[in-house]
Amino acid sequence: NKIGVIFDLDGVIVDTAKYHFLAWKNLADELGFEFTEAHNELLKGVSRVRSLEILLDIGNINLPESKKQEYLVSKNEDYLNYITKMGPEEILPGAEKLLDNLDKLGIKYVLGSASKNSPLILKQVNLLDRFEGIVDGNSVNKAKPDPEVFLIGAKKLNLKPEKCIVFEDAIAGIEAANRANMTSIGIGNKETLNAANYNFNNLTEIPENFFEKFLSKNNI
Ligand code: BG6
Ligand code: MG
Repeated sequence: NKIGVIFDLDGVIVDTAKYHFLAWKNLADELGFEFTEAHNELLKGVSRVRSLEILLDIGNINLPESKKQEYLVSKNEDYLNYITKMGPEEILPGAEKLLDNLDKLGIKYVLGSASKNSPLILKQVNLLDRFEGIVDGNSVNKAKPDPEVFLIGAKKLNLKPEKCIVFEDAIAGIEAANRANMTSIGIGNKETLNAANYNFNNLTEIPENFFEKFLSKNNI
């Protein structure tokens, strides 16, 4: 096909933000400061290392590098305890229908996520085999809002960036898609994601004929 789709994972396909929150909150508790859901918003779409830096800033805490490494490991172990209990029932509403629709149209899709746990999460929810390719936190050098993750995704799709549509729930992700010269679709709060080309509250709101319309509107 002439277009392709790149999906963010956390917050678009599955709601893992709540597990990241619990794991980071445990760490904040241990370090003795409060970490709220509002704080957690700042960590969405951002790499694990950067997330810890933001968290430590919130707590006004300075740590030696070795200690940071230790906490990155323990936070992830904690997070994995939640992830390994996940199942297909945790796929967000509308996601599978959307993938079915893309299959029907012959439009290929890849994953473009900052998470190093992406393959494990997709496996837990039985979606690993459906993607044409996986670009995750293990395959990039520069985190979102850098466009690298999506540009690698376009290569996997064998398409020019202009022919790619990105689904994202994070501000950093929308910025990355826009910088990659792709069409960005914000999933979530419209005000928060106002830099996106299109906005929907969730995947169930995407019209059945969205892609057909997109193709004809762009003369593809
Ligand atoms: C992103 C999440 O998808 O992945 C971030 O939105 C998270 O909150 C990042 O920090 C890295 O995830 P992981 O699984 O590699 O720690
Ligand atoms: Mg996300």
